[in-house]
Amino acid sequence: MSSTLQDAPLGDVPFTEEDFTAIAAMVREASGIMLGPTKRDLIYGRLRRRLRALSLGSFAAYRAVLDGEGGAEERVRMINAVTTNLTGFFREKHHFEHLARQLLPSLSRQGHRLRIWSAGCSSGEEPYSLALTLLGTLPDLAARDARILATDIDTSMVETAATGRYPVERLAPVPEALRGHHLLPREAGQVEMGPEAKALITFRSLNLLGPWPMRGPFDVIFCRNVVIYFDKPTQRKLFDRYADILVPGGHLYIGHSESLFRVSERFQHLGRTIYRKLR
Ligand SMILES: C[S@@+](CC[C@H](N)C(=O)[O-])C[C@H]1O[C@@H](n2cnc3c(N)ncnc32)[C@H](O)[C@@H]1O
Repeated sequence: MSSTLQDAPLGDVPFTEEDFTAIAAMVREASGIMLGPTKRDLIYGRLRRRLRALSLGSFAAYRAVLDGEGGAEERVRMINAVTTNLTGFFREKHHFEHLARQLLPSLSRQGHRLRIWSAGCSSGEEPYSLALTLLGTLPDLAARDARILATDIDTSMVETAATGRYPVERLAPVPEALRGHHLLPREAGQVEMGPEAKALITFRSLNLLGPWPMRGPFDVIFCRNVVIYFDKPTQRKLFDRYADILVPGGHLYIGHSESLFRVSERFQHLGRTIYRKLR
């Protein structure tokens, strides 16, 4: 039996330095994500699957598709393939505890409007953790104008997030006190987020480097484990825009390995990668 491209093993197609450099430049231009030389094998593996799906025999042919007429659609798929989407419910749980104990009580005294943005929400665990925190902390939530915006550049992640369905084992970190009636058992070991949690969140695909259609202002922004892939000038511009779209004194939560040191002077560090807008 003759083998086809569909059957070919993943190590078979040459991936030249020129291919990697051209693709890394395209990814950076489109998303801000920097792909250093250590990412070469990872990118090869992820994009080799795209070549297979398109029945292409070389990266030169793939680059021609990306550059050609109709390449925009494949560029979206390429970005979906290269993003790192690692996430989890109540990841870095001290952020949710800070929000519940320190922030929500004072915000709820200030008025009934509450806007939170999960920027780089991946498959949705972060915004649903925010929704469960709100539902478990604010007894008068139904009477409030509270909304969570959840965005990601990866369109496939946004679609997954919007379904609100997860394998039951992924829900293990959800604190007992916040589960209430919000985790609905479904067939095949799945759990679906309940309607009250879903109703709080709007999911959208959005490139953080492009124009933002929303006006805000936001009381709280979670942008965690996203800018780690961006260079410093890109981070500077982004945090400046976050400061602009936050209310005075608004809060920004970033990932545990990220920092605003020498990136933005518009925030005060409150500790544990929690920041408050100064100006
Ligand atoms: C590692 S995940 C972090 C998910 C979640 N915030 C958390 O901390 O668990 C990073 C996410 O950032 C998204 N991302 C990367 N570049 C982006 C960009 N330019 N605009 C919007 N989202 C981006 C990726 O698609 C990915 O889903």
